[in-house]
Amino acid sequence: INPNNVDIIISAVESKQYPETGLPEIALSGRSNVGKSTFINTLISRKKVARTSSKPGKTQTLNFFNIDEQLIFVDVPGYGYAKVSKKQREQFGKMIEQYLTTRKELKCVIQLIDIRHKPTQDDILMYDYLKHFEIPTIIVATKEDKIPKGKVQKHLKIIRETLEIESEDVLISYSSLNKDKTDNIWALLSQFI
Ligand code: GTP
Ligand code: MG
Repeated sequence: INPNNVDIIISAVESKQYPETGLPEIALSGRSNVGKSTFINTLISRKKVARTSSKPGKTQTLNFFNIDEQLIFVDVPGYGYAKVSKKQREQFGKMIEQYLTTRKELKCVIQLIDIRHKPTQDDILMYDYLKHFEIPTIIVATKEDKIPKGKVQKHLKIIRETLEIESEDVLISYSSLNKDKTDNIWALLSQFI
């Protein structure tokens, strides 16, 4: 795969708008502002393909990024952002639920958790939901650059225990800032492509 070869980007709010390439899809999930869009940019070594913001609530649709005609990353709106209206929260919920429960091409979800914080109730609900639908999950504890190296293992343990991560799911710490584990992430993804 040439991760720099990003092709068409399609935004969708309902299933008839999803791309029809048949390529395997890997979707992101996590709280607003945890760094999902940034994570996609990091993996493909591009700064602005997926639009990011320091303010939560940036991504509002399902965005499909075709990577070298080999796989598609699906960027997803975050959850847990208080300023989103009740109506919009319901719309986001329906949009994400429809995608996660019906999409045959979906091979894996990368759930991002901020390594600094204990997973929230929303994080737990999301992980349980993915497990209920038997969707393979990689949990990435991101923003690793924000805590001292010596504390990483302790924080990973809290995340593993709070989410009750299943034995077949991988938990890995990561930083989109220093990117030094990008190859490890690609190695994990290769089994789904
Ligand atoms: P929504 O689209 O609202 O759901 O947010 P998102 O999860 O897509 O977050 P986004 O990628 O827009 O990033 C939010 C903020 O976190 C931005 O200011 C990023 O620069 C920052 N960020 C993302 N990843 C990292 C990281 O690994 N380390 C640090 N220090 N900052 C990060
Ligand atoms: Mg985003």
